[in-house]
Amino acid sequence: MKIAFVGGTGPAGIGLAARLARAGHSCAIGSRSAERAEEAAAKVRALVPDADVRAAENDAVVSDAEVVFLTVRDDAQRESVRALADGLAGRIVVSMANPLRVDRPRAEAVYLPQPEGSLAEEVQRDAPGARVVSAFHEIRVSRFSKLDLPIDADTIVCGDDDEAKKIVMQLSRDAGVNPVDGGELLCARYVEAFVAVLIAINFRYKASVSYRITGLPESRA
Ligand SMILES: NC(=O)c1ccc[n+]([C@@H]2O[C@H](COP(=O)([O-])OP(=O)(O)OC[C@H]3O[C@@H](n4cnc5c(N)ncnc54)[C@H](OP(=O)(O)O)[C@@H]3O)[C@@H](O)[C@H]2O)c1
Repeated sequence: MKIAFVGGTGPAGIGLAARLARAGHSCAIGSRSAERAEEAAAKVRALVPDADVRAAENDAVVSDAEVVFLTVRDDAQRESVRALADGLAGRIVVSMANPLRVDRPRAEAVYLPQPEGSLAEEVQRDAPGARVVSAFHEIRVSRFSKLDLPIDADTIVCGDDDEAKKIVMQLSRDAGVNPVDGGELLCARYVEAFVAVLIAINFRYKASVSYRITGLPESRA
């Protein structure tokens, strides 16, 4: 598939692009700066030498994509989506942002309540034509670029467009993360908030934890 990464110059964009390019997808790294996008694309090529990856400014990568991953900083997602809303119409848009602030002295992450319920639902409000899917909130993004290491984790995938959700679930498998259908987009608010608990666990155990959903039938795909 043709996949774009808005703000794809951080660890989430570079690592996911590397994993999805390795799986045979065509990837485009977006940025506010074409130069930064090219530097990030070079990092993807360093990880996956035969990667089909290009670089351009955010609006240009979106215009050519079937699936758009929002990999901007969480507090920049609203502004970025509003600026790109017309271009996102009709495309599958993946929201993975967690509205959290880490409070190191308290060894906690503080969840920032969202007026729309979740950042994913806010994307749907601000880009009403987009086919929004929420995924990957629970995965430490630094893991994506460690291509030799398996990602021992599930991700709960939420969305109101069943076909879009199925496509994102397959992309998740392609990236090495097992997806679990978590229902409607409304459920994204609970997933985004629960990441604060994972971070609290990480502080206490000096770890980098994820979770697995158990008890599913064998034919769960
Ligand atoms: N940390 C984790 O382990 C984790 C886990 C799950 C989900 N997430 C989510 O994954 C997303 C990406 O994480 P990341 O660590 O890769 O992000 P990041 O490195 O903090 O930021 C990614 C890119 O966002 C762009 N950006 C920054 N400020 C901006 C602004 N004011 N306006 C527009 N773009 C701006 C920058 O791209 P340019 O300067 O090139 O435009 C930057 O390189 C976040 O939303 C985060 O909540 C993180």
